Amino acid sequence: MGSELIYRGHESQPVSDPYSPKPDKPWASVVRPIRYMLREQRLVFVLVGIAIATLVFTVFPTSPAPRVPHHHFIDPIPDSIAYFPVETQNKFSHPHRLGLGSSNPAGKIPLGLKRKGLRIVVTGGAGFVGSHLVDRLIARGDSVIVVDNFFTGRKENVMHHFGNPNFELIRHDVVEPLLLEVDQIYHLACPASPTNVVGTLNMLGLAKRVGARFLLTSTSEVYGDPLQHPQKETYWGNVNPIGVRSCYDEGKRTAETLTMDYHRGAGVEVRIARIFNTYGPRMCIDDGRVVSNFVAQALRKEPLTVYGDGKQTRSFQYVSDLVEGLMRLMEGEHVGPFNLGNPGEFTMLELAEVVQETIDPNAKIEFRPNTEDDPHKRKPDISRAKEQLGWEPKVSLRKGLPLMVSDFRQRIFGDHKEGSNTNNGESST
Ligand SMILES: NC(=O)c1ccc[n+]([C@@H]2O[C@H](COP(=O)([O-])OP(=O)(O)OC[C@H]3O[C@@H](n4cnc5c(N)ncnc54)[C@H](O)[C@@H]3O)[C@@H](O)[C@H]2O)c1
Repeated sequence: MGSELIYRGHESQPVSDPYSPKPDKPWASVVRPIRYMLREQRLVFVLVGIAIATLVFTVFPTSPAPRVPHHHFIDPIPDSIAYFPVETQNKFSHPHRLGLGSSNPAGKIPLGLKRKGLRIVVTGGAGFVGSHLVDRLIARGDSVIVVDNFFTGRKENVMHHFGNPNFELIRHDVVEPLLLEVDQIYHLACPASPTNVVGTLNMLGLAKRVGARFLLTSTSEVYGDPLQHPQKETYWGNVNPIGVRSCYDEGKRTAETLTMDYHRGAGVEVRIARIFNTYGPRMCIDDGRVVSNFVAQALRKEPLTVYGDGKQTRSFQYVSDLVEGLMRLMEGEHVGPFNLGNPGEFTMLELAEVVQETIDPNAKIEFRPNTEDDPHKRKPDISRAKEQLGWEPKVSLRKGLPLMVSDFRQRIFGDHKEGSNTNNGESST
C-alpha cells in the first residue's frame, strides 16, 4: 500500500516534464531567513521594537516590591469579600499593583513621572485635624471622600474644596456601615462616647472588605494618668476604667485592640497614631480643650480658667506637624503605635502666660477645682517616630499660637477679610 502511494506521486508528474529537483544546498536554510530579515528593513523594525520594549519594562516594572514587609501583611482573602470575583479581590488586596501607591513613593516612581493619586476616605474629615489632613491629601493629588456627621465638625472647614472633582463629602454616621472602594482609610471620626467603638469596627470592616490600609487616630489618653514620664509607646497606661474620662480613654483603648485584632486575624494593613494635645486653626471654639479655652477666653476678655494648681503639664503640637506625622505613618511600613506630639512640656500656668503674651497681657487667671482623673503629666517620648518615620514636630508653641489666634478672632468676631483663609492658619489677620 505504501509503495503504491509513492508511485502514484511520480505518475502525477507529466512524463515530458524535465523537472528534476535540485539537491538542497546545505547552507540555504541559514541564509534564507537572514536574507528575509534584511529585506524591506525588517531588521531595523525588530531592533526598534526591542528597544521600545526594554524602555517600557525599565520605566514601568510589572511587579513593584510589596508595600509592606511580609510579616506585616498576612494575605488571606478575607471571608467577607469571598463574593467578589478573584480578579477584584486581588485588585482590592493589592492596590499598589494598580500603580495607586507605594510604601516608598520616592523609590518606586521613576523620575519625571507623576505619582498616581490614591482614593482615600477621611472619617471626621470636616473636623479640626481631619480638614487639615484633607487639604494636604488634595494638594498631593489624591481623591478624597470625607465621611462626617457634623457632630463637632463643620462644612465650612472643607467648603473650599466644593467643586473640586477630587473631593466628595458624605454626611454619614460611621456607626452605620458604609461601602466605598478606597485604598486608604484615615479614621478620625470620634465622638467621645462608646459609639466610637462601633464606628471603628465598621471602618475596620470596610478596610477588610476592600483591602484598604487603615489608620486609627488614637490618643495619649490611652496612658491615663501615667506613672511613666515621658510616655513611651511600650507603656500600658494607668487608666481608671470607671472614671468620668474612661468613656473616651477606654473607647480608644478598645479601638486600638480592635485594630490590632483585624491586623492579626484578618490581615488588614493597619497603622496606629497616639495623638497628644494638638491645636491650630479650625479647632472647635468651645470644646473644652485647654488651648481653645484659653484663647477664646482671652479674646472675649474673660478670665483664663485654670483647673487645680495649674502645675499639671501638657505638650502642645501644632496641627500641621500632626498631619505630616499621620501621612508619614500611613505611607510608611510600620504599624505602630506611634506617639505623635510635641515633647515641649508646659504647665497650665505657663500656657496661660504664652496666651497672655500673644493676646492680652492683662488677661486674668481664675483657679477652679480640678476635674476628676485629670492627668498630672503628659509628655510624649517620640524617639520611635523620629527613628522609624523620620518625623518630629517643627512648629513651637510661640510660633503656632498666633496662627490659631487669628483664626479664632475671625470666627468669634467675624472680622473676616476678603481673600483670607484658615488653611493651616497662614492668614495674616
Ligand atoms: N485634637 C487633639 O488634640 C487630639 C488629641 C488626641 C486624639 N485626637 C483624635 O484625633 C481625631 C480628630 O480629632 P479632632 O481634634 O479633629 O476632633 P474634631 O471633633 O474636630 O473632629 C472629629 C470629627 O468627627 C466627626 N464625627 C464624630 N462622630 C462621628 C460619627 N459618628 N460619624 C461621622 N463623623 C463623626 C465630627 O463631626 C468631627 O468632624 C479624633 O479621633 C480624636 O480622638 C485628637
